[in-house]
Amino acid sequence: MYVCICNGITDKQIRRAASAGASSVRDLQSELGVAAGCGSCHEHAAKILAEHHGTSLFEPVIYHPSPA
Ligand code: FES
Repeated sequence: MYVCICNGITDKQIRRAASAGASSVRDLQSELGVAAGCGSCHEHAAKILAEHHGTSLFEPVIYHPSPA
């Protein structure tokens, strides 16, 4: 499936790059050209990377209220 229409990049290419060490959309941008045009594929590419690496797009926020 095409993820980046501007540059004709598929999810398979993104997973292959992730297997080869790409860990950020910036890595994908420099290696494949993902998100180097209109940028609308950025979030989808980040999600594929996170799924591939078994991580979350969002880190949990732990709230520690200060004493009043
Ligand atoms: S769809 Fe990827 S840069 Fe436009």
